[in-house]
Amino acid sequence: MKNNIYLIGFMGCGKTTIGQQIAIQQGKKFYDLDRQVVKSEGKSIKYLFETYGETYFRKVETNILLETKHYKQVIIATGGGVVECEENREFLKNQFVIYLDLPFELVYQRVKNDDSRPLAISKDKLYERYVKRQNLYEEVSAYKILCEGHTPYRLSKLILDQIK
Ligand code: S3P
Repeated sequence: MKNNIYLIGFMGCGKTTIGQQIAIQQGKKFYDLDRQVVKSEGKSIKYLFETYGETYFRKVETNILLETKHYKQVIIATGGGVVECEENREFLKNQFVIYLDLPFELVYQRVKNDDSRPLAISKDKLYERYVKRQNLYEEVSAYKILCEGHTPYRLSKLILDQIK
């Protein structure tokens, strides 16, 4: 396997679920950046956004992302906004990155009632971010996987076949 595999894509595209599947199939460790942010801060993502703001959250997210350069052979699920920061993009350009792409309507159906995602409140604002990020995801990734209509298990198999 390549060194670490980074999964990127908009919130709700399945990065965590698919990443866990890949890790199981490869017998590798799985690492979730959002989970690590929560662990290191001792606060939920919602709390961090509401109390300290998005800029603060992004700084923590960057620190946690850059730490992964010390890891070997780990499957890493990023947060959907990881590409917003240029420093993160520069880092990711030197990693092995897979973009999980899902149409906006499906994303929206998956996240609209999820209270833990602070940015999933207004559909219009969410769509703006979705559009803005598409090029950024493309810019840093080696592969784009179209996720619509596939189970996480099938997607993990597709990804592993692609990168063999
Ligand atoms: C965010 C996505 C979330 C989380 C935070 C911000 C974003 O991760 O990092 O709520 O800006 O798109 P998921 O993509 O895992 O939902």
